[in-house]
Amino acid sequence: MAQDLLTLGLESSCDDTAAAVLRGRAILSNVVVGQDALHAAFGGVVPEIAARAHAEKIDVAVERALDDAGVMLGEVDRIAVTAGPGLIGGVLAGVMCARGLAAAAGVPLVGVNHLAGHALTPRLTDGVAYPFLVLLVSGGHCQFLRVEGPARFRRLGGTIDDAPGEAFDKVARLLGLPQPGGPAVEREAQGGDPDAFALPRPLLDRPGCDLSFSGLKTAVLRARDAAVARNGGLRASVRRDLCAGFQAAVRDVLAEKSRRALEAAGEVTAFAVAGGVAANGAIRAALEAVSPVPFVAPPLALCTDNAAMIAFAGAEMLDAGHAGTLTARPRWPLDAEAAPMLAGGKRGAKA
Ligand code: KG4
Ligand code: ZN
Repeated sequence: MAQDLLTLGLESSCDDTAAAVLRGRAILSNVVVGQDALHAAFGGVVPEIAARAHAEKIDVAVERALDDAGVMLGEVDRIAVTAGPGLIGGVLAGVMCARGLAAAAGVPLVGVNHLAGHALTPRLTDGVAYPFLVLLVSGGHCQFLRVEGPARFRRLGGTIDDAPGEAFDKVARLLGLPQPGGPAVEREAQGGDPDAFALPRPLLDRPGCDLSFSGLKTAVLRARDAAVARNGGLRASVRRDLCAGFQAAVRDVLAEKSRRALEAAGEVTAFAVAGGVAANGAIRAALEAVSPVPFVAPPLALCTDNAAMIAFAGAEMLDAGHAGTLTARPRWPLDAEAAPMLAGGKRGAKA
């Protein structure tokens, strides 16, 4: 990577408005303006509200990122922006803002795939060499990618229905726990017995690296209803046991599918994980345990949605001579040759 070039990154494809400045691989600033409060009353992300909030906040985020980095727009060497996949109104707000900034500064502008930003993060944080395997696992994504270059990805498998983070969120809702569900379920699971309820390990009986989580969520719902009918209410101990059982099932499925993906990937320098679910201690430990190559888990602020990853991916692309695309796209698979993913995810179809 060109060591001292300044890259400004913009991200607005989900429910975080973000901007960041990198000098080479060094993160000078990384601003994320969340929208949780705006969507809280609706129990999910409302696309129209998200789009308006992105349009209102993107230039604020850019100003703060430049300020925090102590640089002026005129000093920036290049700009990278998420061009998809994601909620189209938000993506458009980012692309339009980036176009204006690039024209004003007279610098190159590169459109980046949001998933490429996640997938390349292990290079930003740990300098991991190509090729490596990454598991993207969050509220909207779940896929195994063999990362071979800044614009070369091979998808080895992915979820055929829900993303795991989405399943954590739904299970939390079923059990009366707060959102986001992941941290709440993990906390409850600590005091529970993972074997108290027999929960399924979906798709482990089938070959390959595809995953499924919606049946597991339904199994938790049935077990909850049976326990409520039996006890006349949801006992705290049952809630803890269900959380522990659910988390153990997700952990087992992710670990076994990772083992298979590592086998299918052939030679790789590392196995990395990205996305909010990577914050889960039990899951993280199980993934590390199945990896015969070094295991990389970037710090959480760079696992979840951010613009530093977009700036970095854009810089890698420009350095390798890829122009990217500025056409805003709601769906945009990284691996055009892999079969389309069926999964929607709570934040819209991804790939
Ligand atoms: O990557 P992320 O911030 O946003 C996107 O989905 O793009 O991931 C958020 C997801 C949520 O579904 C949240 O419940 C889950 O990551 N999550 C966790 C934990 N912390 C966050 N899931 C399991 N265990 C956790 N500790
Ligand atoms: Zn994301």
